[in-house]
Amino acid sequence: MAGDGMSTHLRVGVAGLGTVGASVLRLLERQAVDLANRTGRTIRVAGVCALDKSRDRGVDFAGARWFDDPVDLAGWDGIDVFVELIGGAEGKAKAAVEAALRARKPVVTANKALLAEHGMALAALAEEKHVALAFEASVAGGIPVVKTLREGLAGNQIVRVYGILNGTCNYILSRMELEELSFEECLADAQKLGYAEADPTFDIGGFDTAHKLAILSALAFGAAVDPGAIHVEGIQAITLADLKAADELGYRIKLLGVAQRTPLGIEQRVHPTMVPKSSAIARVMGVTNAVAIDADAVKELTLVGPGAGGEATASAVVADIADIARGVRSAPFGLPVAALGKSARLPMQRHEGGYFIRLSVENRPGAFASIAKRMAERNISLESIMQHRTGGGPVASGDGEPMPVKLITYATTETKIREALDDVVRDGFISHAPQVIRIERE
Ligand code: HSE
Repeated sequence: MAGDGMSTHLRVGVAGLGTVGASVLRLLERQAVDLANRTGRTIRVAGVCALDKSRDRGVDFAGARWFDDPVDLAGWDGIDVFVELIGGAEGKAKAAVEAALRARKPVVTANKALLAEHGMALAALAEEKHVALAFEASVAGGIPVVKTLREGLAGNQIVRVYGILNGTCNYILSRMELEELSFEECLADAQKLGYAEADPTFDIGGFDTAHKLAILSALAFGAAVDPGAIHVEGIQAITLADLKAADELGYRIKLLGVAQRTPLGIEQRVHPTMVPKSSAIARVMGVTNAVAIDADAVKELTLVGPGAGGEATASAVVADIADIARGVRSAPFGLPVAALGKSARLPMQRHEGGYFIRLSVENRPGAFASIAKRMAERNISLESIMQHRTGGGPVASGDGEPMPVKLITYATTETKIREALDDVVRDGFISHAPQVIRIERE
């Protein structure tokens, strides 16, 4: 490899020495011999940059030049590749990545927010300068899903890509369900364990998943990255009652990101989802991520692995550095930027699928009839209905106490469900806003 114009050394600049950055330095050192054998070049960290030089990170970077400003490191001619592990869609991370690309240096980044918001402009800049822009670590941590979609499945037409893309949410939902703990308790533990983003709203509000889904969707469908096209709901409204109801009905609740090719356009959505307990996705618990891909030739493929954490994310960063050492330069999103089409967006109202609905119904004559009638009026067919009083002895009928009713519908549309529930609420038998959770079939 080194004989075709490349030097025998690859000098790396790493900006951001948090959990992932420190792990990248450790991994490059631990794997130095194997990486040199695999790539034909020695990989050396020549420059580093972080906010605080004095902090003990348990890693030795004495041989590397220190920079206070990542933009200076990005433009320094002592590096051949710039690794951005700062995070955030704007500010220094963006400025440094742009500076590196302008200086014709390949970039490796784990920054999903940056790619979701500015991926197209950065890919165009990388293309113009003929350098790599690599981002395996930006989606699902250690799972090599970017490479799988871009290279491994190049011979397929991809129909759907969906998965558990946020470890924090999956950790929270898993612990709530298995240990019957509160949402707040589980979130605090996820933060202590270092899974959550600096602002956990990004995790629990579904935005982190949406950023990752925007990247996957572009890779899967050859479409421009378009986070604005994604319908986003988080897990804040999920209660123990929902998790128990799902369990009784043979489902689990997961925060899924789903991108699907339909005859009307590409549907992209992030929301809490009921998945059959027997499905591969349902069995993924804790901080683990999973990505399922439906494609015409390979049919179904599910990748499961660690989606967060220093070593796992560093594994993906180092794989990208190794590609650059080998001289590999793929189009960042699998196609030249000009060929990434602006696909029609399928609005959420047109989503088709089954629904779980949990209602708190006043126990009076006519309550059940109202629900059945409003569903039937919109041709919504019910797969199962559960209604039982939660406690106490027998009472005379029609005592008006609130009673939980749970429904599962066959496939219908979002519009029909919302209209039917608006009518049910207007009929006056419901004591709380209905809880609606979409069902995703395998
Ligand atoms: N906060 C993210 C998660 C980290 O919980 O999955 C990895 O992007």
